[in-house]
Amino acid sequence: MVEEEIVKIQAVALERVRGAHLPEDLERVRVEVLGRKGKLAEISKEMGKLAPEERARVGKLLNAAKQAIEDAIDERQPQFREATLRARLDAEWLDLTLPAPGPRAGSLHPITQIQMELEDLFTSLGFMVLDGPEAETEYHNFDALNIPAEHPARDAQDTFWLTDGNLLRTHTSPVQVRGMERFRPPLRMVAPGRVFRNESVDASHEHTFYQLEGMMIDRDVSVAHLLYFMQTLLREIFHRHVTVRLRPGFFPFVEPGFELDIQCFICGGQGCAVCKQSGWVELLPCGLVNPNVLRISGIDPDTWNGFAFGLGLTRLVMMRYGIDDIRLLQSGDLRFLQQF
Ligand code: FA5
Repeated sequence: MVEEEIVKIQAVALERVRGAHLPEDLERVRVEVLGRKGKLAEISKEMGKLAPEERARVGKLLNAAKQAIEDAIDERQPQFREATLRARLDAEWLDLTLPAPGPRAGSLHPITQIQMELEDLFTSLGFMVLDGPEAETEYHNFDALNIPAEHPARDAQDTFWLTDGNLLRTHTSPVQVRGMERFRPPLRMVAPGRVFRNESVDASHEHTFYQLEGMMIDRDVSVAHLLYFMQTLLREIFHRHVTVRLRPGFFPFVEPGFELDIQCFICGGQGCAVCKQSGWVELLPCGLVNPNVLRISGIDPDTWNGFAFGLGLTRLVMMRYGIDDIRLLQSGDLRFLQQF
């Protein structure tokens, strides 16, 4: 009886192994027939009840059945492994002759782009492009610009002082002084660069931002020359009509001094966080160079005069691209930067 059952289990199992389509089919046979709770294990448990000579016969048969089924499974398994590998190779096929995509091209920061455009423009108008140190002397940042110690104008530019008595430049105007020291008039120069102020940050103010300084010293320079260059600058950058207003502005290094504001591009003059609800953005303070500044740098103000301006480069970038928060520009966020 038991022997017949074993023979039957073996026959059915071998049939299942032969007919298996998937590796899982084989595994199922192994568990259901050969496993610890499988059909053959059930029979082993009952063997204790058999007479000793019968037990030996049944035991032999049982082992032979196990071996036969295991062998059959082991024989078929490699076929499945090959089929699985073939399917994987087909799915993961790769054309190695395709051209490589290459490194992803980056892009220049929008401030750098506009700085380069302005350098090109001013170079074409006969200006030199100068550079100056970010860690400056008090003399170049203030004194030589007619801002002596205790002058209230110093308060308008909250300064990061360095322990050696120098400072992080609060504007690009010290490069005017360095330009005058190094080159004699007639002189045309622009100086783009990074400046620092100990200010609280909001939508339109950063503690670290960019300016572009400009200076022209020649004979008989007038406000008309200044306005011509300012209008040329704005037209080149915006490629469209820009509404501007000129109002008196005080800077000790110019006389007369002006604030050139442009109508806010973010809100079209309606008022928003960038223009502090005024509809106007301070962009281009400028004026005729104060004779004292020329004198301090050893230039005779009776022979020479000139104009100077200090463009807020970061604000200009905001206006040109309609960026409504200055903090985005230095966030390092690639989702923002990849748009330019
Ligand atoms: C100056 O820094 C003068 N040196 C400019 C100047 C040069 C006047 C030559 C006359 C002749 P002011 O502090 O206003 O001026 O700054 C100039 C411009 O920098 C501002 O119009 C504004 O566009 C920008 N700016 C000022 N503070 C910040 C700030 N915290 N964040 C971003 N931009 C600023």
